[in-house]
Amino acid sequence: MAILKIARMGHPILSRPAEPVDNPGDPEIHRLIRDMIETMADAPGIGLAAPQVHVPRRVVIFHVPADRAEDGEEGAEEAADEADEEVPLTILINPVVERLGDEMALGWEGCLSVPGLTGLVPRFTRIRYSGQGPNRDSIDRIAEGFHARVVQHECDHLDGVLFPMRMRDLSQLGFLEEMRLRVDAEREPEGGPPSEL
Ligand code: NI
Repeated sequence: MAILKIARMGHPILSRPAEPVDNPGDPEIHRLIRDMIETMADAPGIGLAAPQVHVPRRVVIFHVPADRAEDGEEGAEEAADEADEEVPLTILINPVVERLGDEMALGWEGCLSVPGLTGLVPRFTRIRYSGQGPNRDSIDRIAEGFHARVVQHECDHLDGVLFPMRMRDLSQLGFLEEMRLRVDAEREPEGGPPSEL
């Protein structure tokens, strides 16, 4: 096991599409996953994509902790009850994300590859995602709210997209230390505080 170095915005590994994994059972992929889990826990973060640790493969890991699972998002109040679920550590290989509907919501995001910054990012509120697990199991889930946000953020990394590239209003991008008061004030409509994704 090893804690891997995390690439920061500007490194070319973060802006190019990652390659599919041919064999999810490959011991090298399993080693990568173990190292990603350790790296995410050390950071700490709640999600990590392989390109962030300089490996251009379509692998992401994430979890939704209990303290974030209850965060509703603007425009998603009706779905909040279904969305309020803690999601255990999930390993997704070759993920596919499909939006369910056109509804989007704004929420604060951070990223281990964009350290110190936070921004208000629009994401689809309801998605379906699928992929392979590390034991050749298949994963197929419907996600809403913060869970859906995390998956969209992580899978964007596989296509060379960082959260600032999804923002519509860059006046809402800033250093977390400077933005904290604004984030807290807008917590109700915008969901919870930024998390490192
Ligand atoms: Ni990220």
